[in-house]
Amino acid sequence: LADEEFLFGDVELSRHERRELKYKRRVRDLAREYRAAGEQEKLEATNRYHMPEETRGQVRQTHTPPPLQEPSGPSPPSQAQQKESVQAVRRSLPVFPFREELLAAIADHQVLIIEGETGSGKTTQIPQYLFEEGYTKKGMKIACTQPRRVAAMSVAARVAREMGVKLGNEVGYSIRFEDCTSERTVLRYMTDGMLLREFLSEPDLASYSVVMVDEAHERTLHTDILFGLIKDVARFRPELKVLVASATLDTARFSTFFDDAPVFRIPGRRFPVDIFYTKAPEADYLEACVVSVLQIHVTQPPGDILVFLTGQEEIEAACEMLQDRCRRLGSKIRELLVLPIYANLPSDMQARIFQPTPPGARKVVVATNIAETSLTIEGIIYVLDPGFCKQKSYNPRTGMESLTVTPCSKASANQRAGRAGRVAAGKCFRLYTAWAYQHELEETTVPEIQRTSLGNVVLLLKSLGIHDLMHFDFLDPPPYETLLLALEQLYALGALNHLGELTTSGRKMAELPVDPMLSKMILASEKYSCSEEILTVAAMLSVNNSIFYRPKDKVVHADNARVNFFLPGGDHLVLLNVYTQWAESGYSSQWCYENFVQFRSMRRARDVREQLEGLLERVEVGLSSCQGDYIRVRKAITAGYFYHTARLTRSGYRTVKQQQTVFIHPNSSLFEEQPRWLLYHELVLTTKEFMRQVLEIESSWLLEVAPHYYKAKELEDPHSKKMPKKIEGEASRTQHQLLFLLYVI
Ligand code: CDP
Ligand code: MG
Repeated sequence: LADEEFLFGDVELSRHERRELKYKRRVRDLAREYRAAGEQEKLEATNRYHMPEETRGQVRQTHTPPPLQEPSGPSPPSQAQQKESVQAVRRSLPVFPFREELLAAIADHQVLIIEGETGSGKTTQIPQYLFEEGYTKKGMKIACTQPRRVAAMSVAARVAREMGVKLGNEVGYSIRFEDCTSERTVLRYMTDGMLLREFLSEPDLASYSVVMVDEAHERTLHTDILFGLIKDVARFRPELKVLVASATLDTARFSTFFDDAPVFRIPGRRFPVDIFYTKAPEADYLEACVVSVLQIHVTQPPGDILVFLTGQEEIEAACEMLQDRCRRLGSKIRELLVLPIYANLPSDMQARIFQPTPPGARKVVVATNIAETSLTIEGIIYVLDPGFCKQKSYNPRTGMESLTVTPCSKASANQRAGRAGRVAAGKCFRLYTAWAYQHELEETTVPEIQRTSLGNVVLLLKSLGIHDLMHFDFLDPPPYETLLLALEQLYALGALNHLGELTTSGRKMAELPVDPMLSKMILASEKYSCSEEILTVAAMLSVNNSIFYRPKDKVVHADNARVNFFLPGGDHLVLLNVYTQWAESGYSSQWCYENFVQFRSMRRARDVREQLEGLLERVEVGLSSCQGDYIRVRKAITAGYFYHTARLTRSGYRTVKQQQTVFIHPNSSLFEEQPRWLLYHELVLTTKEFMRQVLEIESSWLLEVAPHYYKAKELEDPHSKKMPKKIEGEASRTQHQLLFLLYVI
């Protein structure tokens, strides 16, 4: 890395770019070595792993499995046969022998914690049992929450197939900006965030007979808030059944939280898993992963491979590297199917990971930690675990959120290893040392509520009439400062009044399923008569960072195409420009192709835009257009994002309030212009604190849109006058804000 930095001087490269570069150099070196040593031997010779005696078969066998279900024969099965085989598969799941016992326990107890290994059938079977048992009579519904969109969609599709109904009829899913349910839907798989929003329209969840909070161990922010709300609803709705389903983690805590609710354990079906560690730490885990996959493929008996990486970019890079090397190895190795899985992957691509591997071939699924517990992929024998995940963290002092790659916890590492032992004895290769596992990994992951901003959730709770947030029934309370900052930001946005009560505008903001600042921007478009444009900007921001594509062989063309969309003013207007031109092309896919724009992302932006447009009436914003007067659009954006502002000082950009050093992202249209004042959509921490999606503003606009938040002297031009003194912490808060905080806390 050091010499790359030297090579590139002060040009900032993203992690991805650096990795790519490193990879290219590695490929060059490897190619040279391969030629010298002969490829096959090279692969077999690199033996980087060892297995300490104590981790042999570390994950113990706990249950003798029934014979595996053979897939049906070569002739296409008749419909009756198909139905029979579906039922046979259902009966083979570990939860099945406990069907009656489980239903009895549910009948006896209002709250039941259900613990079971991933793949035991909790998510797909239990809601069906409840359906069969009549819990959906009299128009009642069953909700099953998932922390991830992908899981909600794929599980609903699976259950619809098992029940022989069309997805969206009896069984459906509901995720943000996508509702695949109807009047008839009684089994609703939904993200935890969507169930939270249900509370807004139905505070007692009256139309639900059962709520199953699934994947509870993930401890997402929304799941944690759901716990508090559901516990409360359950008190005054004794007939409501509450199920909390979790992998084998944390169940005692859930039980204690729900007044010692009983825990129902579904005995796992697990085969022993041998765990291997590297002898020395790996400098480049992506490269190590690719080599290890090929090594497993060449040297190990049949069985599919599951690789855990941290995100889309990394997964795509790894898949490309794998495919590339397989191509070069050609017929020297057996076929290797490389399949990615991450949240934004289109559903037809996602479905491919569940298809059985053709005979003679091997499948390698490259996944985010979505495959840790939410999805079960059959046939995995080998797990490759670099030991990292992408984690959000939040600094309540500065209000900065960052998504960084961090070492995963021991609990995650063990879940990952467990994925190898579902169908037969498996092997887990950890790309870190046994010492690192023992001494460097945390025991468990910190719950999201303790490392994220809370603006959204606080707004929602306030609109549910929950005022005393300090005493809300949290499983783990968020840090005091984070709550404070959320209240303060909502106050600054005008969503709360000085008593900490929801204002009319706050109520409207809560109606929109987007972040408070984005909501505020949409509301402000009424005043500046540009809601058409602002809706587009909002929709494009929510499919963020995946608008342009840049194929390796056409980098120059792609970059030119992107620059052609640049408009003076900044990135928000670029997004607007892309969408407008696409709409003028008749939403054409050909147009996207020619302009290096991702059609999929655009289609999604169009969906989001339509949904937001449908909500405008509810928040009393009329449709209007700025007719090319982009100052109005920029002012409306500023009205939402005045919290995210930076100015150019002698030593580069600094955020206006916190005086943090920040940088314009190299991909931004303003990267070279360096305007004095700007606002940013988000900050991402990669090699530096980068501002993504930046817009040039005038400091006078800040006084226009947020006079309560900015004082004229704070906004004096640093170039013409003396630099303002560094303003810190309490001192930067206006008297008004301090008063407010005194009232609220
Ligand atoms: O929730 P839990 O992890 O206990 O299991 P599940 O998700 O209900 O999965 C039960 C079975 O359904 C597993 O054998 C999965 O392989 C299968 N399944 C599937 O084939 N496709 C899906 N989209 C979901 C589950
Ligand atoms: Mg599940």
